[in-house]
Amino acid sequence: SPPLGPAMGTENGGGRAGSIKYQLAKLVEVSLRAVFPEESNVQPLIAVCTAKFGDYQCNNAMGIFSKIKGKSAEFKNPNSVGQAIARNLPYSDMIESTSVAGPGFVNIVLSNKWVAQNIQNMLSNGIGAWAPILSVEKAVVDFSSPNIAKEMHVGHLRSTIVGDTISRMLEFSGVEVLRRNHVGDWGTQFGMLIEHLFDNFPDWEDVGGQAIGDLQELYKASKRRFDDDPSFMERAQHAVVRLQGGEARYHNAWQRICEISRREFDIIYQHLDVYLEEKGESFYNPYIPNVLEELTRKGLIEESKGCPMDQKYQEFLCCLNDLLLLSRYRLNIEKAEWIIYVTDVGQAQHFDMVFSAAKASWLASDVNSGLYPRTNHVGLEFLDEAKSRSKAELVKRLGDNGKLKEWTDEELEKTAEAVGYGAVKYADLKNNRLTNYTFSFDQMLNDKGNTAVYLLYAHARICSIIRKSGKDIEDMKNSGTVVLDHADERILGLHLIQFAEIVEEACTNLLPSVLCEYLYNLSEIFTRFYTSCQVLGSAEETSRLLLCEATAVVMRKCFHLWELLPFTNY
Ligand code: ARG
Repeated sequence: SPPLGPAMGTENGGGRAGSIKYQLAKLVEVSLRAVFPEESNVQPLIAVCTAKFGDYQCNNAMGIFSKIKGKSAEFKNPNSVGQAIARNLPYSDMIESTSVAGPGFVNIVLSNKWVAQNIQNMLSNGIGAWAPILSVEKAVVDFSSPNIAKEMHVGHLRSTIVGDTISRMLEFSGVEVLRRNHVGDWGTQFGMLIEHLFDNFPDWEDVGGQAIGDLQELYKASKRRFDDDPSFMERAQHAVVRLQGGEARYHNAWQRICEISRREFDIIYQHLDVYLEEKGESFYNPYIPNVLEELTRKGLIEESKGCPMDQKYQEFLCCLNDLLLLSRYRLNIEKAEWIIYVTDVGQAQHFDMVFSAAKASWLASDVNSGLYPRTNHVGLEFLDEAKSRSKAELVKRLGDNGKLKEWTDEELEKTAEAVGYGAVKYADLKNNRLTNYTFSFDQMLNDKGNTAVYLLYAHARICSIIRKSGKDIEDMKNSGTVVLDHADERILGLHLIQFAEIVEEACTNLLPSVLCEYLYNLSEIFTRFYTSCQVLGSAEETSRLLLCEATAVVMRKCFHLWELLPFTNY
């Protein structure tokens, strides 16, 4: 179901106040209900101010005016509606002043003092204070989901990276996330794989996976036989029936093949430090009959006399699997409110079919789609390449500085891994899923521009400012006061407190790229602040060091949401 906007009126926020937009919406809601009691369906519309008259604006006036036009003598134009909304806002120490512009936009200026206190509050209570409040409590995130006996390609790698970050952002926002690895572990390909295994590795049961060796080779060889040899094809088809019938030898062989693949996939999950729970296609088999029955009852399917092995039938089974996943399991049993599929564009047609069938039958809500582009690189090779390139660069730079000798081999490896994998992750996350893009290692590992390396460097620089002060930052968090008198301090402060609504937007629109953009902007805004406001040795040193610390805390939280290891362990 589609992620909707922020929750209004739900109290699953714990100690969190919610994003600025959320808090302003609550105030505006009070005003709307008081002035327009009959328009109880109107939801507050709050946006960041586009003009320089305020920080935020309320955009409800025009919509409300078009509804009440002619019905009320009091409101002659949208501007008068805006005036009334502004006048009836309840008192709040958030708001410094309001003004109404043009067709009723209510511009809101936040109080400097309140912004400063908000930052201090986050510093003493932790970044959790800036977690947004969402309208969802439980979500399934279906990601990674490679296919047994095949390689994990870059599309799967991307899904793994993006799916993990979406899960982390939701978890940070207090949502219970079921991280699902929907591996392709069922289907007719197992017939040919198993028969080929029996023919060529008679002792497969005794010596375990070692004897089978390279699964990709097994897959290719059995596919060749399947295509070329009609008698093998027939045996393979029977094998499918025997496997699906639960015959022990076939079931064991299937399990063995899955285990070998699983071990290969796990290497990638360990590299990326991603946690997933495997519930593959086969897991949902027992639920098939019920869904078939329901679809038949609703007249949505009819029995076909076609061959069960043909392409159409396979596609149908595949869709059916996802359909029942949606209905029986994810919606009814797991009771997920959001079901998020992170998959590449190769699956577009499949999901079009699944969602339209689901909508025709039981799914009331809309779906929101946009899939990741596909490339054919092999996932593991891609990660290895990123690591070796970052290592070469590291060795070169250390060599240039004459510092190579100070580094142990292990340190080099670890750093190359963190920087290389981090670069791949960040490049995937920062690209909007709705736009295709081409990979470039050079760009990915660049230390200028919007890259992981640049952000990690920016963070390290802020930490070194704090270190150079010689002050105990933990102490200052409790005793110091943040003041935002300089224009660039105010800009930095405002950007910092917008963290919650950015995470909220990234979650509701499923766009991790929004958070990447935010952090890149933060580091630029920080640079401007640091250039115009002297920190060390100034009269405002304490306040400014606290702003440095708040910036670093936000950066670290983003690194954590992106799992840019090991830089999260500061
Ligand atoms: N196994 C599919 C692939 O390799 C992705 C599965 C996505 N999830 C799902 N529930 N169909 O592209």
